[in-house]
Amino acid sequence: MIVVSHRGPVTFDTASDGSFTGSRGAGGVVSGLLPLVAGSDHATWIAAAMTDGDSAATRAGQAAVDGVDLRLLLLDAHEHRLHYDVVSNATLWFLHHGLYDLPRRPSFDRRFEEAWDAYVAVNEAFARETAAVATPGEVVLVQDYHLTLVPGMVRAQRSDCRVVHFTHTPFCEPSSARVLPEAVSRVMLTSMGGVQCGFHTSRWADAYLATSRMVLGKAGAGARAFVAPLGPDPGALAETASSEAARSEASQLDELAHGRAIVLRVDRIEPSKNIVRGFQAFDLVLHEHPRWRERVVFVALLTPSRERQAEYLAYRAEVERAAARVNERWATPTWQPVVLDTRDDYARSVGALGRYDVLLVNPVRDGLNLIAKEGPLLNEKAGVVCLSREAGSFDELRDAVLEVHPFDIIQTASALLEALEMPATERAARADRLRTLAAARDPAGWLADLVAHA
Ligand code: G6P
Repeated sequence: MIVVSHRGPVTFDTASDGSFTGSRGAGGVVSGLLPLVAGSDHATWIAAAMTDGDSAATRAGQAAVDGVDLRLLLLDAHEHRLHYDVVSNATLWFLHHGLYDLPRRPSFDRRFEEAWDAYVAVNEAFARETAAVATPGEVVLVQDYHLTLVPGMVRAQRSDCRVVHFTHTPFCEPSSARVLPEAVSRVMLTSMGGVQCGFHTSRWADAYLATSRMVLGKAGAGARAFVAPLGPDPGALAETASSEAARSEASQLDELAHGRAIVLRVDRIEPSKNIVRGFQAFDLVLHEHPRWRERVVFVALLTPSRERQAEYLAYRAEVERAAARVNERWATPTWQPVVLDTRDDYARSVGALGRYDVLLVNPVRDGLNLIAKEGPLLNEKAGVVCLSREAGSFDELRDAVLEVHPFDIIQTASALLEALEMPATERAARADRLRTLAAARDPAGWLADLVAHA
């Protein structure tokens, strides 16, 4: 089996003695699959070298992990930047998450043309490597919007390979796809149309099929899609939760809360995560329900992301201002209502998920949102999950969560209030149900579904 993803499952750092150490990569979804992929015989993982450490380890022949033939591609730096920043992140990510500010962006100009050529070249590099290492009839699992052209390119070189493509993000509706230059959407959808394409929920699968029909006409009617939601790995979560690091983070959080209720969010600093409206809703709760002042703390564990993008830097500043506004308005000498922590620390997130009373997951749009499933499996306090109806996981969890309309701050505030004031018996019943729903799917089932569609 070959997994092909833009970001690899581990990232490498150079130690002081010149050796290399690998640690869990930033893409939580793919990193979680490593043990599973490593457990299958003859597993290859092709990804891009993303950091200086990755490149140095690759050049030294030491970019290795147990059980997998890891192949990090050393891409041309300029091309890689255009592929990742301009096409993958600023264009396709924004398109699929509905984040465009249409009067201003996107603009398809000469710079985009150059970036699109780079996107094609990077996809070619991934396809070349795949075609070179694949054994006859090998299963090839291509991940995400960075690599939409790989299925078509691999099939052209190696028609014996069994290829699937899986999209971890939402997929745009036909009307949004009309924004893209025709040639760009045609080539992506033609490549994807040659293989089975997987999504976390039927909503994104249906959007893909409809977009394909609109862009490709008759040829698009043959597109094939399947739904395979990912689930957390309960064993791996329990192991991290019982680690010294996670336990110490959990008790630090308890000390910080000092007996107050904890509203938690755990996200990358990412416009689609809707962090600012979350703070505004919390502000409204404090404003309209004074009984909650000094009795609740909103802990936001936010990991910086894609900081080469102007939008992400600007969004980070907005997030920090929104948090500061709540604190300026309501803090007392003994209480800070919002605690914003931007350290990137997996054990800290796992520890905190054990301790929330309310977990807020209110994205504008999200392919799945694994946190909404991991939280209930880790939580020890019968915490309530307030979940955006625009998250892919909402379909699976809707019976046991409180629904959030992500654009409606008043509704979000009511959901937070209802969660904070929910009677203990209802909390316990919901938490039980949520644990069952969240554990219904696991990474092994997801991987088996992909292989079955190859
Ligand atoms: C999402 C995408 C992944 C991506 C991750 C982190 O989960 O589906 O493909 O790896 O975000 O984004 P980054 O740009 O840092 O790889």
